[in-house]
Amino acid sequence: MKDIILQNGHIKIYKRESSQFWQMRIKPPKEKAIRESSGCRNLKDAKEIALKKYNLLTLDKKIITLNVKNYHEYKGKHLLGIKNLKKTEIEYIIDYAQQFIEFNKQKVKKSNILEGKSIFNVFFEDSTRTRTSFEIAAKRLGADLINVSVKDSSINKGETLLDTVVTIGSMDPDLLIIRHPEYGVSEMISKTIDASIINAGDGSHEHPTQALLDALTIKNKIGKFRDIKIAICGDILHSRVARSNIYLLKKLGAKINVVGPKTLIPDDINDLGVSVYYDMKNGLKNCDIVMMLRIQKERILGIHIPSEKDYFLEYGLDFNKLKYAKRNALVMHPGPMNRGVEIDSKVADDVTRSLIQNQVSMGVAIRMACLKILIDNKG
Ligand code: CP
Repeated sequence: MKDIILQNGHIKIYKRESSQFWQMRIKPPKEKAIRESSGCRNLKDAKEIALKKYNLLTLDKKIITLNVKNYHEYKGKHLLGIKNLKKTEIEYIIDYAQQFIEFNKQKVKKSNILEGKSIFNVFFEDSTRTRTSFEIAAKRLGADLINVSVKDSSINKGETLLDTVVTIGSMDPDLLIIRHPEYGVSEMISKTIDASIINAGDGSHEHPTQALLDALTIKNKIGKFRDIKIAICGDILHSRVARSNIYLLKKLGAKINVVGPKTLIPDDINDLGVSVYYDMKNGLKNCDIVMMLRIQKERILGIHIPSEKDYFLEYGLDFNKLKYAKRNALVMHPGPMNRGVEIDSKVADDVTRSLIQNQVSMGVAIRMACLKILIDNKG
């Protein structure tokens, strides 16, 4: 039978006399050709397999490494916080993630650049965005992702945290993503097992991928960090998101106002190089971005604030308070949101002002970049 030619000659499907199966010759542009059996007797199935294979091979070639001349390439094996990163390392990760924004818009969002790699999500605290976006990021890069549900794990039978991570470590994982309510747990684990570690939130300390995804969102909306002013509002005291964002946005040149009741501003705030305000009117003045934080109800109601209603009246972002900021100021929130407590639904859902859904989408791209960079560095 005649050879079948597809994709301008990049795919050839043919049969050997000795075989019942269709063979494929696939030659991605500027690459060597590969030849293999499609495993199909049926021509239609063989064409489909050949096209899928061609798409995978060409997609992978689009995932490029940056021209590192302009960067201090991030060489770390772990990502535990923003505090100790250099400005150019942060820029490297953000720019590296840019290609995954495009990748995630494609019809086929699948690559095999992390094929054969094992990644564990180990969450000792609840999560929607972080856990699922790491899961989808890993799967889009072809890695195997294992979710360890701590609620169903042997921790409930008395196993220690250390025994749990050492057990996972014995399965030769490439990378662990750790969320834990206590400060420093990710760092402790990074010193215990051989895998790369990403801190997905440790108590009130840091949440580095949230700050990176927020920066990627700002970069794509505003295009710069220098000379922009950002108000971070609400429960600064308990917020790892606030801390990581302050470290990151200041390194990139933004000016930061923190705004909240005195009871929710940490004692060491003056060491962070930010301006502090206790009212929204002054705190939001001339701001380009208003970043609202979740009121951590489980920790503060009745202790640091009198009631949700009083809090909303004074610090909840509605369109009246948003007028204190610049005319077209944009709104961010890391989620999960307490609607009617720190943010009014009308503001949160106004797509002309709110970047909240963009943040979620940028989270996948940033996490794809972090997984690829760290696993490459470990290798
Ligand atoms: N922003 C954030 O960390 O959300 P989750 O708690 O849902 O992961």
